Amino acid sequence: MSDDRLIVALDVPNALDGLQLAETLGDTVSFYKIGLGMLTTGGLALANELKQDHGKRIFLDMKLFDIGATVEAAVRGLAQFDLDFLTVHGDPHVVRAAQIGKGGKEMKILAVTILTSLDRDDLNASCLKPGDVQDLVLERAANALSAGADGVIASPQEAALIRALPEAAGKLIVTPGVRPAGAALGDQKRVATPAQAILDGADHIVVGRPIWQATSPIAAAKAVLAELA
Ligand code: C5P
Repeated sequence: MSDDRLIVALDVPNALDGLQLAETLGDTVSFYKIGLGMLTTGGLALANELKQDHGKRIFLDMKLFDIGATVEAAVRGLAQFDLDFLTVHGDPHVVRAAQIGKGGKEMKILAVTILTSLDRDDLNASCLKPGDVQDLVLERAANALSAGADGVIASPQEAALIRALPEAAGKLIVTPGVRPAGAALGDQKRVATPAQAILDGADHIVVGRPIWQATSPIAAAKAVLAELA
Protein backbone atom coordinates (compact mmCIF):
# COMPACT_ATOMS: atom_id res chain seq x y z
CA MET A 1 0.00 0.00 0.00
CA SER A 2 1.40 3.41 -0.93
CA ASP A 3 1.47 6.34 1.49
CA ASP A 4 -2.17 7.29 1.94
CA ARG A 5 -1.29 10.69 3.41
CA LEU A 6 -1.38 11.83 -0.22
CA ILE A 7 -4.90 12.27 -1.59
CA VAL A 8 -5.06 13.06 -5.30
CA ALA A 9 -7.97 15.31 -6.34
CA LEU A 10 -9.54 13.83 -9.47
CA ASP A 11 -10.76 17.20 -10.80
CA VAL A 12 -10.85 15.91 -14.38
CA PRO A 13 -13.94 16.43 -16.58
CA ASN A 14 -15.60 13.05 -16.23
CA ALA A 15 -15.46 9.61 -14.66
CA LEU A 16 -13.74 8.00 -17.64
CA ASP A 17 -10.85 10.47 -17.47
CA GLY A 18 -10.73 9.91 -13.70
CA LEU A 19 -10.49 6.16 -14.13
CA GLN A 20 -7.76 6.51 -16.75
CA LEU A 21 -5.76 8.79 -14.46
CA ALA A 22 -6.14 6.38 -11.54
CA GLU A 23 -5.02 3.51 -13.77
CA THR A 24 -2.01 5.56 -14.88
CA LEU A 25 -1.08 6.24 -11.26
CA GLY A 26 -1.57 2.56 -10.39
CA ASP A 27 -0.09 1.47 -7.07
CA THR A 28 1.63 4.83 -6.56
CA VAL A 29 -1.56 6.49 -5.25
CA SER A 30 -4.04 4.85 -2.90
CA PHE A 31 -6.43 7.70 -1.97
CA TYR A 32 -8.58 9.86 -4.30
CA LYS A 33 -10.84 12.86 -3.84
CA ILE A 34 -13.94 13.10 -6.01
CA GLY A 35 -15.71 16.46 -5.91
CA LEU A 36 -19.02 18.07 -6.75
CA GLY A 37 -17.85 18.89 -10.28
CA MET A 38 -17.90 15.22 -11.15
CA LEU A 39 -21.21 14.41 -9.52
CA THR A 40 -23.18 14.75 -12.74
CA THR A 41 -20.57 13.02 -14.90
CA GLY A 42 -20.30 9.68 -13.15
CA GLY A 43 -18.49 10.63 -9.93
CA LEU A 44 -20.35 8.22 -7.68
CA ALA A 45 -19.92 5.35 -10.12
CA LEU A 46 -16.21 6.19 -10.29
CA ALA A 47 -15.99 6.24 -6.49
CA ASN A 48 -17.59 2.83 -6.39
CA GLU A 49 -15.33 1.37 -9.07
CA LEU A 50 -12.12 2.72 -7.57
CA LYS A 51 -13.18 1.34 -4.20
CA GLN A 52 -14.52 -2.04 -5.15
CA ASP A 53 -12.35 -3.00 -8.13
CA HIS A 54 -9.12 -1.14 -7.39
CA GLY A 55 -9.07 -1.14 -3.58
CA LYS A 56 -8.58 2.64 -3.37
CA ARG A 57 -9.64 4.86 -0.49
CA ILE A 58 -12.20 7.50 -1.46
CA PHE A 59 -12.84 11.03 -0.22
CA LEU A 60 -16.18 12.32 -1.55
CA ASP A 61 -16.06 16.12 -1.34
CA MET A 62 -19.76 17.04 -1.38
CA LYS A 63 -19.76 19.87 1.21
CA LEU A 64 -23.33 19.06 2.21
CA PHE A 65 -25.49 21.71 3.85
CA ASP A 66 -29.25 21.54 4.51
CA ILE A 67 -31.76 21.01 7.30
CA GLY A 68 -30.74 18.17 9.59
CA ALA A 69 -33.29 15.65 8.29
CA THR A 70 -32.15 16.11 4.70
CA VAL A 71 -28.43 15.91 5.55
CA GLU A 72 -29.12 12.76 7.54
CA ALA A 73 -30.95 11.17 4.59
CA ALA A 74 -28.24 12.17 2.10
CA VAL A 75 -25.47 10.80 4.30
CA ARG A 76 -27.41 7.58 4.93
CA GLY A 77 -27.58 7.08 1.16
CA LEU A 78 -23.92 7.94 0.58
CA ALA A 79 -22.85 5.65 3.41
CA GLN A 80 -23.89 2.69 1.21
CA PHE A 81 -20.95 3.50 -1.08
CA ASP A 82 -18.37 2.46 1.48
CA LEU A 83 -16.57 5.81 1.31
CA ASP A 84 -13.69 6.79 3.57
CA PHE A 85 -14.16 10.57 3.92
CA LEU A 86 -17.19 12.79 3.27
CA THR A 87 -17.32 16.59 3.66
CA VAL A 88 -20.18 18.61 5.11
CA HIS A 89 -20.29 22.26 6.13
CA GLY A 90 -19.14 22.64 9.71
CA ASP A 91 -22.41 23.97 11.14
CA PRO A 92 -23.08 21.90 14.27
CA HIS A 93 -26.61 20.85 13.21
CA VAL A 94 -25.21 19.58 9.88
CA VAL A 95 -22.38 17.68 11.55
CA ARG A 96 -24.71 16.05 14.07
CA ALA A 97 -27.15 15.01 11.34
CA ALA A 98 -24.32 13.58 9.23
CA GLN A 99 -23.09 11.50 12.15
CA ILE A 100 -26.58 10.08 12.64
CA GLY A 101 -26.89 9.39 8.91
CA LYS A 102 -23.61 7.50 8.66
CA GLY A 103 -24.84 5.02 11.28
CA GLY A 104 -22.20 2.44 12.09
CA LYS A 105 -20.13 3.00 8.94
CA GLU A 106 -16.43 3.80 9.16
CA MET A 107 -16.80 6.84 6.86
CA LYS A 108 -15.23 9.94 8.44
CA ILE A 109 -17.29 13.12 8.47
CA LEU A 110 -14.99 16.08 7.74
CA ALA A 111 -16.19 19.63 8.35
CA VAL A 112 -15.55 22.61 6.11
CA THR A 113 -15.08 25.77 8.22
CA ILE A 114 -15.09 28.84 5.95
CA LEU A 115 -14.34 28.37 2.27
CA THR A 116 -10.87 29.74 1.59
CA SER A 117 -12.23 31.62 -1.43
CA LEU A 118 -14.29 33.87 0.90
CA ASP A 119 -12.98 37.06 2.45
CA ARG A 120 -14.45 39.42 5.02
CA ASP A 121 -16.55 41.25 2.40
CA ASP A 122 -18.11 37.94 1.35
CA LEU A 123 -18.92 37.09 4.96
CA ASN A 124 -20.51 40.53 5.44
CA ALA A 125 -22.62 39.96 2.33
CA SER A 126 -23.75 36.65 3.86
CA CYS A 127 -24.56 38.44 7.15
CA LEU A 128 -21.99 36.41 9.06
CA LYS A 129 -20.80 37.82 12.37
CA PRO A 130 -17.98 40.35 12.57
CA GLY A 131 -14.42 39.37 13.35
CA ASP A 132 -11.18 38.28 11.79
CA VAL A 133 -11.76 35.47 9.27
CA GLN A 134 -9.05 33.28 10.81
CA ASP A 135 -10.61 33.62 14.27
CA LEU A 136 -13.96 32.59 12.80
CA VAL A 137 -12.32 29.60 11.09
CA LEU A 138 -10.93 28.46 14.45
CA GLU A 139 -14.27 28.99 16.18
CA ARG A 140 -16.14 27.07 13.49
CA ALA A 141 -13.56 24.26 13.62
CA ALA A 142 -13.91 23.97 17.40
CA ASN A 143 -17.71 23.99 17.17
CA ALA A 144 -17.77 21.38 14.39
CA LEU A 145 -15.37 19.09 16.25
CA SER A 146 -17.39 19.48 19.46
CA ALA A 147 -20.51 18.56 17.49
CA GLY A 148 -18.85 15.27 16.51
CA ALA A 149 -16.97 15.90 13.27
CA ASP A 150 -14.20 13.34 12.76
CA GLY A 151 -11.97 16.07 11.37
CA VAL A 152 -11.78 19.31 9.43
CA ILE A 153 -10.61 20.59 6.08
CA ALA A 154 -8.05 23.33 6.63
CA SER A 155 -5.77 25.50 4.55
CA PRO A 156 -2.07 24.97 5.28
CA GLN A 157 -2.05 28.29 7.17
CA GLU A 158 -4.82 27.09 9.47
CA ALA A 159 -3.57 23.56 10.08
CA ALA A 160 -1.18 24.37 12.92
CA LEU A 161 -3.69 26.64 14.67
CA ILE A 162 -6.45 24.02 14.44
CA ARG A 163 -4.07 21.26 15.57
CA ALA A 164 -3.46 23.30 18.74
CA LEU A 165 -7.18 23.40 19.64
CA PRO A 166 -8.09 21.08 22.51
CA GLU A 167 -11.14 19.97 20.46
CA ALA A 168 -8.79 18.69 17.71
CA ALA A 169 -7.13 16.01 19.83
CA GLY A 170 -7.43 12.71 17.99
CA LYS A 171 -9.21 14.34 15.02
CA LEU A 172 -8.19 14.47 11.38
CA ILE A 173 -6.90 17.53 9.55
CA VAL A 174 -6.99 17.35 5.77
CA THR A 175 -5.22 20.11 3.85
CA PRO A 176 -5.67 21.21 0.23
CA GLY A 177 -3.70 24.09 -1.26
CA VAL A 178 -0.49 22.08 -1.20
CA ARG A 179 2.19 22.76 -3.77
CA PRO A 180 5.52 20.97 -4.22
CA ALA A 181 8.40 23.45 -4.33
CA GLY A 182 8.48 25.09 -7.76
CA ALA A 183 4.98 23.98 -8.84
CA ALA A 184 2.55 26.46 -10.41
CA LEU A 185 0.18 27.99 -7.87
CA GLY A 186 -2.86 28.13 -10.19
CA ASP A 187 -5.59 30.01 -8.28
CA GLN A 188 -4.25 28.89 -4.90
CA LYS A 189 -2.92 31.86 -2.97
CA ARG A 190 -2.06 30.47 0.44
CA VAL A 191 -0.03 27.34 -0.12
CA ALA A 192 2.46 25.15 1.69
CA THR A 193 4.72 22.34 0.58
CA PRO A 194 3.64 18.75 1.33
CA ALA A 195 6.23 18.37 4.05
CA GLN A 196 5.32 21.66 5.72
CA ALA A 197 1.60 20.80 5.76
CA ILE A 198 2.34 17.50 7.53
CA LEU A 199 4.70 19.22 9.98
CA ASP A 200 1.92 21.70 10.74
CA GLY A 201 -0.34 18.87 11.83
CA ALA A 202 -2.14 17.71 8.68
CA ASP A 203 -2.90 13.99 8.52
CA HIS A 204 -3.57 14.06 4.78
CA ILE A 205 -2.79 16.51 1.98
CA VAL A 206 -4.93 16.97 -1.13
CA VAL A 207 -3.05 17.65 -4.35
CA GLY A 208 -4.81 18.13 -7.67
CA ARG A 209 -3.41 20.05 -10.62
CA PRO A 210 0.30 19.59 -9.84
CA ILE A 211 -0.36 15.88 -10.43
CA TRP A 212 -3.20 15.50 -12.93
CA GLN A 213 -2.01 18.35 -15.16
CA ALA A 214 1.62 17.18 -15.10
CA THR A 215 3.25 15.82 -18.25
CA SER A 216 3.93 12.72 -16.19
CA PRO A 217 1.35 12.41 -13.40
CA ILE A 218 3.10 9.39 -11.96
CA ALA A 219 6.45 11.25 -11.73
CA ALA A 220 4.68 14.20 -10.10
CA ALA A 221 2.95 11.93 -7.56
CA LYS A 222 6.23 10.19 -6.77
CA ALA A 223 7.91 13.56 -6.19
CA VAL A 224 5.22 14.51 -3.65
CA LEU A 225 5.55 11.13 -1.93
CA ALA A 226 9.32 11.51 -1.81
CA GLU A 227 8.87 14.87 -0.13
CA LEU A 228 6.55 13.29 2.47
CA ALA A 229 8.97 10.45 3.14
O1 C5P B 1 -5.54 21.48 -8.05
P1 C5P B 1 -5.41 21.75 -6.60
O2 C5P B 1 -4.25 21.02 -5.96
O3 C5P B 1 -5.43 23.21 -6.26
O4 C5P B 1 -6.72 21.07 -5.99
C1 C5P B 1 -7.06 21.14 -4.66
C2 C5P B 1 -8.38 20.47 -4.42
O5 C5P B 1 -8.83 20.81 -3.14
C3 C5P B 1 -9.47 20.92 -5.38
O6 C5P B 1 -10.35 19.79 -5.55
C4 C5P B 1 -10.17 22.02 -4.64
O7 C5P B 1 -11.52 22.14 -4.99
C5 C5P B 1 -10.03 21.55 -3.20
N1 C5P B 1 -10.06 22.60 -2.20
C6 C5P B 1 -9.18 23.66 -2.19
N2 C5P B 1 -9.21 24.59 -1.20
C7 C5P B 1 -10.11 24.50 -0.27
C8 C5P B 1 -11.01 23.44 -0.23
C9 C5P B 1 -10.96 22.50 -1.24
O8 C5P B 1 -8.34 23.77 -3.06
N3 C5P B 1 -10.12 25.39 0.69
